[in-house]
Order: sequence, then structure tokens, then C-alpha cells
Amino acid sequence: MFDTMTMTKAVGAVCGALLVFLLGNWAASALYTTSTAGHGAGEEHAQAYTIDTGAAAGGTEEAAPEVDFATLMASADAAAGEKVFGKCKACHKLDGNDATGPHLNGIVGRGIASVAGFAYSTSMAEHAGKPWSPEELNHFLTSPKAYAANTKMSFAGLPKAEDRVNLIAYLETQK
Ligand code: HEC
Repeated sequence: MFDTMTMTKAVGAVCGALLVFLLGNWAASALYTTSTAGHGAGEEHAQAYTIDTGAAAGGTEEAAPEVDFATLMASADAAAGEKVFGKCKACHKLDGNDATGPHLNGIVGRGIASVAGFAYSTSMAEHAGKPWSPEELNHFLTSPKAYAANTKMSFAGLPKAEDRVNLIAYLETQK
């Protein structure tokens, strides 16, 4: 009777020890998995920082072309500008005749709102008295509405500086 009791206790002790060992093992691997996930999150954090640095560098590149209009103008391509003029053709002619808008041959250097007989808007007429220099055209063509609030020219503008300088270079060839 005592022997059987001892045997039962011994088997119970072994089973208990095994259970503790298995539970310990499971807990250890659960901890190990958690720490791996934590490490992965740390790597993502490092990548987010790299993207930030890239955006800052891009900002510097964007700011550079705006600074020097003269340099952009010097490298302008009149042939490419002729294609951009396709957006203006519906309203502007280059043969001296006015249409929806005034003729644009000779526009570079011509006085603002100076075509006799063309009914300009009041906010375009307010700019009269100075010539259409390349800089002035660049300003107007970026956003006609920003330049002359109630302009009759229904055109959103040319957002790309490259398109504007190419177009101005083309208009310079149209006397
Ligand atoms: C939907 C018709 C329309 C389009 C498209 C259009 N314009 Fe005009 N443009 C006008 C009108 C109308 C005026 C007169 C604006 C005013 O009096 O406010 C004008 C005025 C101008 C003037 C001032 C002329 C002057 O005698 O002072 C310039 C320069 C000009 N446009 C250039 C362009 C260029 C370059 C494009 C193409 C990128 C273009 N326009 C596209 C209708 C148009």
C-alpha cells in the first residue's frame, strides 16, 4: 500500500515537473516572438526617417528653378513653345487680326492692353502703361486671374515654368 502511494506521488511529481517545463518553454518562445515583432517595428521607424530626409532634399530641388527666370529663359526652346501655343490658338491669332483675344504677334515688348479697338477688361486695363516684358508675361501666364482679377481671358494658366519660357521664346519670334 505504501509502495503504491510512493509510486503514485513519484509519477505525479514527474508529470508536474514536465508540465512546468512545457509551460516554461511555451512562455519563453512567446516572449521571443514578441521581442522579434518589436524589432521589426523599430526598422519601420528607421525607414520613415529616411523618407523624411528624401522629402527635404526634394523641396530644395523644387525651390531652385523658381529663383532664376533669366537662366530658364536662356535655355528656352521656341519649337517646343510653338506646341504650347496650341492652347492659345482658339482665341489668339498671330496675323494681326483680333479674335476672342487680341492678336499676339509682336506681343513681347508691346504695351499692355494697347491694341486699339479691343475691349479689354478693367483689371487688364489697370496694367496699361508698361510693356509686356518676358517677366511680365511669365507672371500673367502663370495665373491670368491672379494677375488681373476680372480678366476676360478664360484660361487657367500654365503651371509649368518650362512651358511658359518656351512659349515666351516662341512669341518673341512672332513679330
Ligand atoms: C478662351 C480664350 C483665350 C485663351 C484660350 C487664351 N486667351 Fe489670352 N486673352 C483672351 C482675352 C479675351 C484677352 C483679353 C483679356 C482682358 O481684357 O482681360 C486675352 C489677353 C491676353 C494677353 C494680353 C494682350 C494685350 O494686348 O495686352 C496676352 C499676352 C495673352 N492673352 C496671352 C495668351 C496666351 C499666351 C495664351 C495661351 C497660353 C492665351 N492667351 C490663351 C482670351 C484667351
